[in-house]
This record gives sequence, C-alpha cells and structure tokens, in this order.
Amino acid sequence: MMEQKEGADPTYTLAGGQPVEDPSSALQIRAGQGNGGLSVLADTQLIETLAHFARERIPERSVHAKAAGAWGEFEVTHDNSDLTDAKFLNGIGKKTKVLQRISTVAGEKGSSDTVRDVRGWATRFFTEDGNQEFVFNDLPVFFIRDPIKFPSMNRSHKRHPQTNVPDQNMFWDFHVHNQEGIHALMHLFGQRGIPASLRHINAFSVHTYTLSKADGSYRYVKWHWEPDAGIETLDAATALRLAGEEPDYHVKDLYNAIEKGDYPTWTLYVQVMEPKDVKDALVDIFDNTFTWPHKKYPLRPLGRLTLNKNPSNYFQDIEQAAFSPSAMVPGIGPSADIVLQARMFSYPDAARYRLGANYQQLPPNKPLSPIYSPYQRDGPGTINGNYGGDPDYVRSGFRTINFRQTHCYPEGHEVWNGKMQSYATEVTERDFEQPRELWEIIKGERAEGQFLENVVPTLVPIEEGLCDKAVAMFARVDKGLGELLAEAVRKGRAKAACVCGK
Ligand code: HEM
Repeated sequence: MMEQKEGADPTYTLAGGQPVEDPSSALQIRAGQGNGGLSVLADTQLIETLAHFARERIPERSVHAKAAGAWGEFEVTHDNSDLTDAKFLNGIGKKTKVLQRISTVAGEKGSSDTVRDVRGWATRFFTEDGNQEFVFNDLPVFFIRDPIKFPSMNRSHKRHPQTNVPDQNMFWDFHVHNQEGIHALMHLFGQRGIPASLRHINAFSVHTYTLSKADGSYRYVKWHWEPDAGIETLDAATALRLAGEEPDYHVKDLYNAIEKGDYPTWTLYVQVMEPKDVKDALVDIFDNTFTWPHKKYPLRPLGRLTLNKNPSNYFQDIEQAAFSPSAMVPGIGPSADIVLQARMFSYPDAARYRLGANYQQLPPNKPLSPIYSPYQRDGPGTINGNYGGDPDYVRSGFRTINFRQTHCYPEGHEVWNGKMQSYATEVTERDFEQPRELWEIIKGERAEGQFLENVVPTLVPIEEGLCDKAVAMFARVDKGLGELLAEAVRKGRAKAACVCGK
C-alpha cells in the first residue's frame, strides 16, 4: 500500500483509497445550466459520505457520558515492594504510560460541566503485564451497596420518564427510600460537590481491593488520588452561571492547561489493612458506603500521575476508550465487595454493546504488552491479524503455548463457605455514624450555611410529604441539622410562594 507521505500535503481519496477530483461535487444528470438535477446510484462519493455520516455516532455511555480526557505518565516514587509485586508499582523512578478520562455522571454528552454531581475518574495504566484500570469516583463512598439498585439510582438522577426533564421529586424519592446513600449525599451536597476544575479533584477507589505478592501474602487496600495542586471547588452561584455561559468549562480548562505545558499531577496513595485485622475493623470493608478512618489507616504514598498530552482526536482516543474495574494485573485483585463484583461484569458488557466485541483492539484500549488470546476470534472490526491459522480451541497439540502463574487470588485468601440466598441490605443506625462525623467536620469548618444553600433549593420544589421525609433522613444524621433544614425549607417555600404570587 502506498502511504501518504507524512508532512506532505495529502491527496484526497475515498476511504477505499480511490482518488476523486472534487469532494464537494455530486454526480448528477443535469438539464440546462441552472440548479436542479437527478442523483445517481453510481455516485459512490456522495453515497459513502452520507451513509458514513449517518453512522458516525456510537451510543453514549449510559452514565458518565460527558468527559475530558488526556494521556499521561505514572511514576513510582516510593518502594512498594512489601505490598505488591505489580510491576508498574515497583522500582522507584519506573514510568508507565496512562490514559485518563474524567467525567460527570448523570448528564448527557453535551451537558454542562459545572453541575453538582459525582466526577468519575478512569485510568488505564499500559503495563508490561497488560492493562491495569482504575474506575474511581471523586467521592469516597457510593450511594448504594446492593448492585441491583444501580440502574434505579441513576434513573432517579436523570430525566423523568414522562416529562423528560431531571426531577428533584424522583431524586429524593429514591434517596429517602434507600437511605444507605446518606453518607454519599452528605459529600455531594458538601463543599466538594462542584470542583473548580478537573485539575483540582481527588479520586477514590471507593471499594476495597487487594494487593498481593507471589509469596502468597496479601493486604486489603483502598486507593486514593490527591491533586498536588490542592482541592479547589466552586460555589453554587458561580457554578450555575458557568453552566449556562460555558457548558464545557472543565473540559476546556484541562485541555488548555495541558496545551500550555501546565501539567496537572496527582499522588497515588493506599490505606492498608492486614487481613487479620478485618474482623475487628471499625467498618465493614466490603461495604462501599463506609470510609476507613484515616487515623487508624493512614495514607501511604506510592507514586505520581502527570497528565501531559491532549488527545490528538477526541473520538478516537477518549470516546472509544472503555475502562473496567475487572482489568487487573498480577499483584492487584478485587475484594468481596458485591458492588465491585457486579461492576466487573457490567463494564466489559457495556463496552461490547457500545463499541463491539473487539473493543480491546481499538487504539486507546489496546495493551502495549504482548497479547495472545486466540480463543477470542472474529467479530466486526477484527484488526489484530486474528491469530492467522493458530488453533482456535483449547488444548490443541498443534501449537505450544506458555502459561504464567498469577496470584490475583492468593492462597488462603477469602475462603467462602456459605449458602446461596437472595439478599438485600437493611439500613441501620450505623449508616448514620460516618455522616454524623462528616457533619461535625462541616460544622468545624463553619460551612453549615453553605451546606444548607446546596441542599435547600433541591428540597423546596418537591412534594411536601417527600420533603418532610428527606428532612427526617437528615435529622437521623443530626437533630440540629434536621432543624436547620426544616427552618430553611420553610423559609424557601414561603419565598417561592410569594414570588409565584400565591
Ligand atoms: C453496581 C454498581 C455500578 C455499575 C453496575 C456501574 C456501571 C457502569 C456502566 C455501565 C458505565 C458505562 C461504561 C461504558 O459505557 O463504557 C459506568 C461508567 C463509569 N462508572 Fe460505574 N457502575 C457502578 C458503580 C460505580 C462506582 C462505585 C464507581 C466509582 C467508584 C463508578 C465509576 C464509574 C466511572 C468513572 C465511569 C466512567 C468510565 C469511563 O470513563 O469510561 N461506577 N459505570
């Protein structure tokens, strides 16, 4: 194949390589000199251009559709060899290529950036043992702990099925009847609910993972990213103005910073727990609505991420990227958090639907390390050589294949002996303990007023009975908080009635 010479002015062709004189022309049967003519099926250029256009969108992600993305580099800054032998985490100074995508959750691809919402944080490390992926959030806890509730929870944050607009009644209806989310709600309506920029957010694994070594040792960890430039947030009024004036404010900010060489950096930490300490831990480590107390489990630094290159084409590099918490290299493993287990199925499943069965062959997803996976063959968009004539069935005698021992599930780790049962968690007083501690911190920072300003406008328009239930839920966190909210809502309603002339 003749390649177009790099740097030289390209010669226009069809996608099949055939040169065409004029990309703005259409073949037509014309009569006279003026406009008007008949199209012909033989106009390959017109047909291919229009047919391709009609197919150029892929389905949006059903959540986390709006995002910015960039390429970067992860560097090991500490000796982590006692924790894990994951290669990309070992050897001070070792560098690994990274792809990063930072998203909002509820809004569509074209929605505004500066809304009160969770920020998603997806990282792919292109390691020599294949892709390691972190699919994290900027809140340390999650809204639910029964994975079956995930679609319901997200729908309640999205558009009403009849009116097709986001609906505070739905939002609060879901949360007052699924109160395990109170801890995440306290964070969402706290100061950090709207970041000033994507360069100033932190990110959390939310779930417990394991770090392990070939000698069979393992530890439980929670991952944390901290922005080296510090956390910065927006007040609700500024965020609202920007959402209208500059709906892509965060996307532009990240792109422009990287473009001018002002590369954002984050430090990666873990909180570590020994398996023997799990049974006496103050929290249920397999429940993603709890954080681990930092005093008892301090942050331990591992390395640093730098985002230093913008995508050369957003669609190719970021829209076609697909991340999954199931992508783990030797030395890192999941835990028995049932939400994490469900997610390990859901993301590759979403990618197969959104991008096709061969999504791992696309440029942003393709590992840089050698791949030999001959039992996944064919399918649309096969571009990896398809393993030529190699056997496509296991245990063939025609080709020798080497196998490596891995230890994502170290020996002695979580031996389960239980009975199959249908199970849904219950909300108990324990679910309000950490939110109460958070409220004490908010009060300590004299940010109660701001918290109320963030919550109250979402409660004022909703049905009165539902509003009372929401206030009662916050009163379970703290009686004083309940009273403050009740009073602020009463004033808000009176003001709204006055404005409406009721
Ligand atoms: C049962 C729980 C959950 C399920 C079933 C679920 C499912 C999904 C699905 C289907 C997507 C769209 C993926 C795509 O189309 O490529 C997604 C995106 C995402 N989710 Fe979840 N999710 C869950 C919980 C969580 C949690 C707890 C976190 C954070 C700790 C999280 C972080 C993200 C992020 C960051 C993305 C965007 C990934 C990207 O940039 O491509 N999700 N989730």
